[in-house]
Amino acid sequence: MSLIMHEFENNEALCERLAQCIASGLDGALNLREEATLAVSGGSTPKPLFAALSRCELDWSRVRVTQVDERWVPEDHPDSNALLIREHLLQGHAAAASFDSMKVAIDDAFAAESACAQRLAAFADAIDVVVLGMGEDGHTASFFPAAETLAEALDPATERLCLAVRPPAAPHDRMTLTLAALLRSRQLYLHITGAKKLAVLQQALAAQDALTYPIHAVCQRSDNPLETFYAPGS
Ligand code: 6PG
Repeated sequence: MSLIMHEFENNEALCERLAQCIASGLDGALNLREEATLAVSGGSTPKPLFAALSRCELDWSRVRVTQVDERWVPEDHPDSNALLIREHLLQGHAAAASFDSMKVAIDDAFAAESACAQRLAAFADAIDVVVLGMGEDGHTASFFPAAETLAEALDPATERLCLAVRPPAAPHDRMTLTLAALLRSRQLYLHITGAKKLAVLQQALAAQDALTYPIHAVCQRSDNPLETFYAPGS
């Protein structure tokens, strides 16, 4: 189990610090390679983090951004994570970054897997920075408990970069990076807020059962511990 906890008084202080850590990781990558890669999650938690990150000064023109997962809806749909990223992250200094969204022009997520993997080919090796969220059911990315393709998504031996998932209880089919892709990352962050999510994370650490608590699956690499940033409140 490898998880490092960083607790903050409030989400504002958390987002400022996490944005600095992400920017520093991207800057470090740019000192070593022509391009740096960043994969971010969606949902409601990351909005203030995206705003803080968009204010960070770095050579964003050499940063490629993609998604950890996506709801399979048009990119102008209010539930689209790509829309969230465009409206809240790719602003200010970060507007110069390039964005490879997951949603290809194929209506069925399951039929879109290979086209999505082709679009995200630049992220097939080690992604420099990955930012995860977590649901109150212990899911992260789109690794939803009881989803039919969960075991495949969590297969550490898979060569697949992304996979379609039908959440049993959440709206929209999803596309998600696989666990194998996430564990290849150079830096893995988890951003959660609220006592309920902290309790779920603690249950996941105790249960050690990734099919019940998929978040457990990303706490496995001792050489790349899950840097968890937590603040109380919603
Ligand atoms: C998504 C996210 C997902 C998210 C959790 C938490 O598409 O919803 O990528 O993995 O991180 O569902 O979402 P909230 O931040 O809204 O609680």
